[in-house]
Amino acid sequence: DQTRQIAQTLAEFRLSKAQLLEVKKRMRTEIENGLGKKTHDSATVKMLPTYVRSTPDGTENGDFLALDLGGTNFRVLLVKIRSGKRRTVEMHNKIYAIPIEVMQGMGEEVQQCAFSVFQGILVNWTKGFKCTDCEGEDVVELLREGIKRKEFDLDVVAVVNDTVGTMMTCAYEEPTCEVGLIAGTGSNACYMEEMRNIETVEGNEGRMCVNMEWGAFGDNGCLDDIRTEYDRAVDENSLNEGKQRYEKMCSGMYLGEIVRNILIDLTKRGFLFRGKISETLKTRGIFETKFLSQIESDRLALLQVRAILQQLGLDSTCDDSIIVKEVCSTVSRRAAQICGAGMAGVVDKIRENRALDHLDVTVGVDGTLYKLHPHFSRIFHQTVKELAPKCNVNFLLSEDGSGKGAALITAVGCRQRAQEA
Ligand code: BG6
Repeated sequence: DQTRQIAQTLAEFRLSKAQLLEVKKRMRTEIENGLGKKTHDSATVKMLPTYVRSTPDGTENGDFLALDLGGTNFRVLLVKIRSGKRRTVEMHNKIYAIPIEVMQGMGEEVQQCAFSVFQGILVNWTKGFKCTDCEGEDVVELLREGIKRKEFDLDVVAVVNDTVGTMMTCAYEEPTCEVGLIAGTGSNACYMEEMRNIETVEGNEGRMCVNMEWGAFGDNGCLDDIRTEYDRAVDENSLNEGKQRYEKMCSGMYLGEIVRNILIDLTKRGFLFRGKISETLKTRGIFETKFLSQIESDRLALLQVRAILQQLGLDSTCDDSIIVKEVCSTVSRRAAQICGAGMAGVVDKIRENRALDHLDVTVGVDGTLYKLHPHFSRIFHQTVKELAPKCNVNFLLSEDGSGKGAALITAVGCRQRAQEA
């Protein structure tokens, strides 16, 4: 009976193909809403124009300084791009962890991307950021002021979303790369959309990269039928309640929290940890992505899973560890599947835009969940293939996506400016 009740609890997380196709279809509807002139203002998936009109062609040149504010780290990079027969990108970087006092003190998530710039209004903080006095502000101005205080002489030329940086970096190596994906602490994607479809920007010729901000998918309630009580609990305990509902189902920052909420419930019902809810289990954020990845690793024997739980301060029996592993894999499988369903919606849109029966396209990907989790990427790939059978989708891992990408975007801009002059 216990086994049956646990299975019943987890069954809600097991989505059928029909349900996933429904997620794909709804993503498509939200994409149209974000792009449409009349629907944009109230749309949840914002589809922000990035003003990036073309991917690199290899003739870019110059030295650039890039600041990369990611979900996990803050990095400062010096990027030297050389064109010619031997194209090279040389990078030097320094990595800093982002302390919680900074994240929740005062100012990121540069969601508005602009090239040649200018301006980047911070729309909303997401993930673990909650710095005061930044939302609605021009972060470029804030950055300039910060630099001035340190008496450096630097100009800020471009503000780039990490998905766009990732796409551009991969496009430098692989011209069919027209989509960027971050599956890490948070979740987001961008892709090359036809100008004629972007009703929020003047002009109908060519294409422009659109930063989807797809983490907010579902914020109008359109995913509520597949959200579980545990998803709602995670949302209620988050810094941004009601926001980024899709991201909260499929990105690294939240998977551990979903798992923890399920474990608490199963313990309350007496199925786990001898029915005793420890202080540790009550602690928010204990199941970081790296622990989930370890627990789900196929190379680990159950004894080792127990050792990990022990490390976290959870005393488990052998049966407990089997259940914990099952919970983790169920939650991460759903994450990979709904992320795949969203991506299937995107690539099929690109295919239809071009009136093709068959599309070959490459997606540049970055993020700790995609890179470190033992099963996420495989299930994600499988799902995209199943839900978008008319697309042949290739995935390219991006290294140092944002910093290099920001430098490349600036370089493409400088090249275009030189050509126009
Ligand atoms: C990094 C990129 O490699 O990946 C960052 O350089 C990006 O710009 C990050 O934000 C995303 O991964 P995570 O897991 O740190 O959110």
